[in-house]
Amino acid sequence: MNFSVNNCRLIDFSITGTGAGFFVDPLRNGIEAPFPVKRMYYLFDIPLNKARGGHSHKALQQIVIAINGSFALKLSDGRDEKLVILDSPMSGLHLVPGIWREVFDFTPGATCMVLASEVYDERDYIRDYDEFLTWRGLKKNIHSNDL
Ligand code: TYD
Repeated sequence: MNFSVNNCRLIDFSITGTGAGFFVDPLRNGIEAPFPVKRMYYLFDIPLNKARGGHSHKALQQIVIAINGSFALKLSDGRDEKLVILDSPMSGLHLVPGIWREVFDFTPGATCMVLASEVYDERDYIRDYDEFLTWRGLKKNIHSNDL
């Protein structure tokens, strides 16, 4: 399926344990997470003015959570773009397959947690934007007889 940026939605978590002055956010496969989570990783100690991302995945689904601080994501499906600011551990952004993302504007000490539907596989990445457009069927291949 050809997903669009509009398929990338915020998921609100069900907060519990609020009585004791702290919050607990459970994230369960098939309930809050729309896919079985096979991997979790987090980005921390991110230098100021450093951007991350700059790639798309072919099949991987992810949920991105600002566990601490905030950061911005610019999403593109090759046609439309969407800017999302994440600044709360009480919700996460569901990234569907085939979405180019840039992640930037990390506040000092920000921590970005990612839940992923698959284990790490470099073959699932597209790291070149032109290649991404071609993969999405949005860029005409130039043949020598077109020149
Ligand atoms: P990458 O996904 O490109 O990071 P970001 O989107 O945050 O910029 O990953 C950065 C590097 O880390 C890359 O060389 C692949 C490696 N890596 C793993 O080995 N395992 C993982 O689970 C992840 C997410 C990355």
